[in-house]
Amino acid sequence: MNTFNTEQDEEIICHCTGTSPSKIKTLYKEGCTNFEAMSDRSGVCTGCGGCEDSVRDLMNDLKYA
Ligand code: FES
Repeated sequence: MNTFNTEQDEEIICHCTGTSPSKIKTLYKEGCTNFEAMSDRSGVCTGCGGCEDSVRDLMNDLKYA
């Protein structure tokens, strides 16, 4: 089912926009450190909103990475 590879980073975190965790990490490093900015830049949570908890969890992890 995963058409990329087995790396977790290449799984899709937001299926509505096809956003991967690696995209979130890249944008976070570029300064999108709050959820609203991340949503604006990546499009996450602009569809069904079902990815919000996952995105927030990932961003929280990045804060302490
Ligand atoms: S999965 Fe991200 S908005 Fe639907």
